[in-house]
Amino acid sequence: MPDIKILAIETSCDETSAAVVVNGRKVLSNVISSQIKTHMLFGGVVPEIASRQHIQAIDVVIQQALEEAKTKKEDLDAIAVTYGPGLVGALLVGLSEAKALSLALNKPLVPVHHIRGHIAANYIQDPSWEPPFICLIVSGGHTHLVHIKDYDDFEILGRTRDDAAGEAFDKVARVLGIPYPGGPGIDKLSLEGDPEAIEFPRAYLEEGSYDFSFSGLKSAVLNYINKAKMKNEPINNADIAASFQKAVTDILTERAERACKQTGIKKLALAGGVSANKHLRAQIEAMCKRENITFSVPDIILCTDNAAMIGSAAYYEYLKGNIADMSVNAYPSLGLEESMF
Ligand code: KG4
Ligand code: ZN
Repeated sequence: MPDIKILAIETSCDETSAAVVVNGRKVLSNVISSQIKTHMLFGGVVPEIASRQHIQAIDVVIQQALEEAKTKKEDLDAIAVTYGPGLVGALLVGLSEAKALSLALNKPLVPVHHIRGHIAANYIQDPSWEPPFICLIVSGGHTHLVHIKDYDDFEILGRTRDDAAGEAFDKVARVLGIPYPGGPGIDKLSLEGDPEAIEFPRAYLEEGSYDFSFSGLKSAVLNYINKAKMKNEPINNADIAASFQKAVTDILTERAERACKQTGIKKLALAGGVSANKHLRAQIEAMCKRENITFSVPDIILCTDNAAMIGSAAYYEYLKGNIADMSVNAYPSLGLEESMF
């Protein structure tokens, strides 16, 4: 079969990214223009500003992705783009650009689910990685434990009932005075703290459930800080960060381990921005070693939002003939099990 070369575009949140990916596995370029510095000034992503910055960056980012990949537009086999979930205005910038390219170049348009993209980062990381496997997806907007039965067959075992893991990191970071996005800051500060210093609650929910809940943990951290302030007691931010991070990691590790054992699928992958967390990566890897589970985690640059992962997921959509026409819209709250095909 001839090689399939896809130009992928990702603009669902605060990174404008374009990549050229061959056969879903080989990344020729992965250009990421981050807006974090701008949103940092506001303590979080401002949707209207995100859309405007995507508009300013997108043409340059695509041009650079094609140049780095030494690829002419005419030599592409398809144009792929994230169509949901995400910020609607931000998604529409990428989608409009992809539609224009598809129409002008007469190339098929492949709409890609953002979370399926995060999962596919593992296909780039390890070219021999294939379904079936269990995937723990932890990002700013999502926390899912999924049985990936095939490239397009997903069974959701558990999901968060309130905050996503990344959201909890960002909210706790904010009260600790760490700038947005808080995850990397907590990761760094934790290195100086004692993870056993404070016993924050771990919500295991009803027996057998694979669901997550992080709002109780988040409130416990806020209460701890408020109480200490009221009593004029010293607050050790590094200990709070490390103890909070350990609580999140323990919950995620327990669910992932149980899912692998109960399904009998001894293959686990991490995905999403929070999987960039050093403590989480190390603890899950250690659990996998102990339990004889084969483990995959993408490089940090492939964990947070990027277009290469979209180009990988797009390849498998393309093989299935999942091509859209110009009427395709952006879907801000598209569920993982939902698809337009
Ligand atoms: O996947 P992602 O880039 O965007 C979404 O699709 O949501 O995830 C962003 C989230 C943010 O909440 C950010 O704080 C978190 O990932 N994050 C981290 C780390 N790096 C990014 N959380 C914990 N530790 C990190 N090192
Ligand atoms: Zn993401």
